[in-house]
Amino acid sequence: MTVKVSVIGLGYLGATHAVAMVELGHDVIGIEPDQIKLESLRNGILPFHEPGLGSALTRAIASGRLKFSSSHNQESAAAEIHFICVGTPQKPGSAAADTSYVMAAAKDLAKWVSKTAVVAGKSTVPVGTAKLLRDSMSEIAGFNIHLAWNPEFLREGTALEDSLRPDRLVIGAWEEYSVERLKAVYKPILDLGTPFLALDVPTAELVKVAANAFLATKISFINAMAEVAEVSGGDAVALAKAIGYDERIGNKFLRTGIGFGGGCLPKDIRGFVARAEELGVGSAVEFLRHIDAINLRRRDKVVELAKVELGNLHGKRITMLGISFKPDSDDLRDSPALEISQRLTAAGATVTVHDPVSLDALSSRSPELNREGDLVEAMREADLTILGTEWKLYREADPHLLGSLVATKTVIDGRNVLDVPAWQKAGWKVIALGRSIVNG
Ligand SMILES: NC(=O)c1ccc[n+]([C@@H]2O[C@H](COP(=O)([O-])OP(=O)(O)OC[C@H]3O[C@@H](n4cnc5c(N)ncnc54)[C@H](O)[C@@H]3O)[C@@H](O)[C@H]2O)c1
Repeated sequence: MTVKVSVIGLGYLGATHAVAMVELGHDVIGIEPDQIKLESLRNGILPFHEPGLGSALTRAIASGRLKFSSSHNQESAAAEIHFICVGTPQKPGSAAADTSYVMAAAKDLAKWVSKTAVVAGKSTVPVGTAKLLRDSMSEIAGFNIHLAWNPEFLREGTALEDSLRPDRLVIGAWEEYSVERLKAVYKPILDLGTPFLALDVPTAELVKVAANAFLATKISFINAMAEVAEVSGGDAVALAKAIGYDERIGNKFLRTGIGFGGGCLPKDIRGFVARAEELGVGSAVEFLRHIDAINLRRRDKVVELAKVELGNLHGKRITMLGISFKPDSDDLRDSPALEISQRLTAAGATVTVHDPVSLDALSSRSPELNREGDLVEAMREADLTILGTEWKLYREADPHLLGSLVATKTVIDGRNVLDVPAWQKAGWKVIALGRSIVNG
């Protein structure tokens, strides 16, 4: 059954969701106030890098089922489901999430929404936000809005696939009506046997931040072990492998390195602590401050390792391989590789960045960093190379070939993805986080 939906906010989440909705057979209108982003999408050009999404966008536009607008209109008002997908960044100068964009989007929508429509929030919000939105929207609309919370778990790099084949679907709602309407929209996904959870609204809001808090904890746990391994002759990579065989622990998200970043994990754990404090239970998630601190200390560690290797960084040439917060994405938000590059530059080094897709985004973000699109040229004159993002290109690079073309064969493997014996055999000095066994 085709449903008319609107998708409000067409960033990483919203653009993916809009395209996914078309793939599921629905008629979609995407609302995005940023004119540059809107025009780009209208022309079938994805304003960010996401594998497979560009071709799906082209298909969606060609099908005539995906339309765009910079604001609500009669067409979006006719939608039966409205998905709110706007950003909830960290508030400047505070750990809390900035919910002003979701609130503004909701209030704006309240002037257009019909009595029978369902509004489904997909953004990651502090628990209690949905209730505020519902009250505020209902007051503006003059009737009770059917509001539900439907958190999104997609991962950049596999966003469309994650949207179409999620691990689970979560819907938090006050009324059965909203649940049934959303189940109809997601029917093709539910027909695949996808686990479905209808929850109360606060739990649905909490699912997403709790999941991200758990994932962040797992990464920082192994990075805490790395700190201990580094001073005790141990090897956190081997340690992770050994404990990961225990199926209660599992080996995913247990790779030691320069830690997590991006537009979600860091701001979500900080926002979670801030919200818990407001609710008087700050001590319950106080440990997340440590998770955050462990994560940020790994960035300090790389700067420290560079200084140990090069001495005074003034005039030294350092090449950063990969600048996005993760491979298969050009997202630079809170990227560990970017922060390390900026700090090395501030310490006097000349940093050249290579990245398969993120150099354009980098030029406006951090113009003081040199950009080089050719891998060998980026590394040729470097006094030190740092692997900052584990793109396949770097994981599979030939150390013999690279070694024959560059001046200095020293690399810090910030992600622990290089085949250390192979690189050493090719004459490289490999410095790896969490591995005193490698670093001697
Ligand atoms: N990026 C991810 O991988 C991901 C995954 C799951 C959940 N989330 C959550 O989804 C939300 C959005 O994240 P994102 O990464 O897509 O952010 P984003 O910054 O890429 O996109 C947000 C978009 O909303 C638009 N917007 C702002 N105010 C608006 C308004 N009033 N009306 C319509 N559009 C408006 C912005 O112009 C922007 O294009 C956040 O809460 C985030 O935590 C993100």
